[in-house]
Amino acid sequence: MNASAAREFFLKTYGCEPDVVGSAPGRVNLIGEHTDYNGGQVLPLAIDRRTYVAMKRTGADRSRIVSDTAAESGEFDARLVERSGEWWDYISGVFAFAEDKSALPQVQAVVTSNLPTGSGLSSSAALEMATAITLAQLVDDARSLKDLALLSWRVETQFVGVSCGVMDQFASALGEKGHALHLWCDTLATEQVKMREAVLIFDTNSPRSLRGSQFNVRQRECQEALELLRARQPGLANLAAATPEEVRTAHLPRNLEKRALHVTEETRRVESLVAVLKKTGDVDGDLLYQSHESLRTLYECSTPQLDWFVSEARKIRGVRGARLTGAGWGGCAIAVGELDALSGAQSSLIASYKSAFGLDARTWLTNAEAGARVETSGK
Ligand code: GLA
Repeated sequence: MNASAAREFFLKTYGCEPDVVGSAPGRVNLIGEHTDYNGGQVLPLAIDRRTYVAMKRTGADRSRIVSDTAAESGEFDARLVERSGEWWDYISGVFAFAEDKSALPQVQAVVTSNLPTGSGLSSSAALEMATAITLAQLVDDARSLKDLALLSWRVETQFVGVSCGVMDQFASALGEKGHALHLWCDTLATEQVKMREAVLIFDTNSPRSLRGSQFNVRQRECQEALELLRARQPGLANLAAATPEEVRTAHLPRNLEKRALHVTEETRRVESLVAVLKKTGDVDGDLLYQSHESLRTLYECSTPQLDWFVSEARKIRGVRGARLTGAGWGGCAIAVGELDALSGAQSSLIASYKSAFGLDARTWLTNAEAGARVETSGK
């Protein structure tokens, strides 16, 4: 799957060449989980699986979008977008947040992707960002990648209506080859941190039914913890800005204390991992294991399948560290380490996972890859 496949799919669908092809990757998070919506730090990286959008202006009075993965097409009015509850809301929502809607053209577009959907690798952020960068190029909108990431985040939270932090859209927009993205979610400052190690992504392919509802419960709990802490410290900017010590001495209800301890310690683990990466060029695997343990016991968003992977990965020589990645409650885990070790372990991990849980896991190896980009532009 690449830009020319997207171009060919466009040609086959509409019988002409697209004006612009753009793409954006999925992401995994190396460390810094459930910190983004608490004003903390994260360290995600863009992976080598991407979503491509090919687009052309048309004189028709509606816009049309065809997806090879959804194997269906959708229609919307680019200048008067309404939420449809359909998969193309991720695309039409980008039009809904354009700066000058009256100047928008109707478009013909296709979407192709080799990024699995619904696995926790941010396929929705990739679709939003690929649309945003392609449309921006088409209409000469000179907004920065960072602004397009914020636009995509607004699409996700305000148009599609999924409550999440900014990490996924920023990772998809600003990832750089060979680097993890250190993002401070309060100020939106970023830095690129060299990251040469390979990452094994393990999709547990397990039910994620709790994900949406539990995610919302955790967000509420974090908000409640912040309000209680603010009663003692009125100037507290966000939950991640408190220290673990301040959390421990605040006598919060036990569930809120656990969530707040995770957030305050996790954001510090991001700082520690960045410091080690800069100094040695290697990931400190212990920090990954600590992060997982904290997600398991304090944030309570792990599953037996994710825990199984982390403990199996720990036994493999050449693996430095492992943890769940993304929201949890199913989805994917990662292991970081030597390429040979990770690559050699894949088939036996898949086989023993099948005997342990009766589930078919999927694995992918990736390095840190490039973020969103314009692939071709004939305009
Ligand atoms: C999901 C959200 C992100 C982030 C992670 C947890 O992936 O989309 O914004 O909150 O969960 O770190």
